[in-house]
Amino acid sequence: MTEYSDLRLRRLPLNHGSGQMPALGFGTLIPDAAGTVTATRDALEAGFRHFDCAERYRNEREVGEALQAGLAAGGIARSDIFVTTKLWNTNHRPERVAPAFEGSLDRLRLEYLDLYLIHTPFAFQPGEEQDPRDQSGGVIYDDGVTLLDTWRAMENLVDLGRCRAIGLSDINLNRLLPIYEAARIKPAVVQVEAHPYLPETELLEFCKEKGIVLLAFAPLGHGAKPGPLEDPVVTAIAARVGKTPAQVLLAWAVQRGTALLTTPRTAARAQENFDISALPEDAFNEINRIQTRQRLNEVVKTGVPGFIARGK
Ligand SMILES: NC(=O)c1ccc[n+]([C@@H]2O[C@H](COP(=O)([O-])OP(=O)(O)OC[C@H]3O[C@@H](n4cnc5c(N)ncnc54)[C@H](OP(=O)(O)O)[C@@H]3O)[C@@H](O)[C@H]2O)c1
Repeated sequence: MTEYSDLRLRRLPLNHGSGQMPALGFGTLIPDAAGTVTATRDALEAGFRHFDCAERYRNEREVGEALQAGLAAGGIARSDIFVTTKLWNTNHRPERVAPAFEGSLDRLRLEYLDLYLIHTPFAFQPGEEQDPRDQSGGVIYDDGVTLLDTWRAMENLVDLGRCRAIGLSDINLNRLLPIYEAARIKPAVVQVEAHPYLPETELLEFCKEKGIVLLAFAPLGHGAKPGPLEDPVVTAIAARVGKTPAQVLLAWAVQRGTALLTTPRTAARAQENFDISALPEDAFNEINRIQTRQRLNEVVKTGVPGFIARGK
């Protein structure tokens, strides 16, 4: 792993290609269009160079608009930023993968993607409805496609050269292993919920052994209260080291070797969340010893996104 003593600049090498992912990432799961534009611009100005998007967030156009304007205004080159987006569950059939990818690229106004992820391992009924339901409200899954079929189509995108790396999201070790074994191009990144209440230690160890980047979403516990931001161990450390609880949680995530995605929605919070520095070893270990366990997002079990309101 490339070591940068300044956590803000840490980059993690990807296992194929020559790419490196900035450890500090900005997530664009923001419900409103105007808020997406301002938060993305603020994040870029605060120093974030890694942007996580998704077809499912329905705001790739706004992210693309903000990035294009922000890069021009800041004199920042496309190659200085790292952009990810994700294939939604309704596009798992191999013939739908390339068109979905092109659609995202077009909305984001980009020529290539740094990373494309399968958003969840669950295939939904193919079509334009992102949340297909039967009459009793149950999700309509698609049993006509396997995750490996979808992975093969993702590998083809890398071969075509417009996507530098591929990976999976909302996946557990049991589902990841067979894909890892069968893959011609191994997953470069796995994106899952991770914070001190859900450390995903076993998955992280597997990823480190295989050179896969574990990309943690909800590193602040999605702001849940009670949650990691209010944990007494975290707040005591914050007071001791002169940082905010958010900065402590983000530093811990980077120091344990993950990349992370956080979603500050104001300029002040973007600056706060970017301005992290290494925790002393005893503080780092105290957080490792927190025993509370809490999963905030059940998407990993069903493919239904936990932080997106039904009907959107
Ligand atoms: N793969 C998946 O299925 C999946 C699922 C969920 C998320 N994600 C990705 O991960 C990204 C991050 O997830 P997340 O939104 O849960 O991240 P998060 O940063 O853990 O949580 C964001 C919440 O924390 C609050 N917050 C942000 N900075 C703060 C600070 N300095 N002090 C106190 N509170 C603060 C925000 O409050 P305010 O809104 O009040 O500012 C917001 O409610 C998403 O945008 C998305 O890109 C992926």
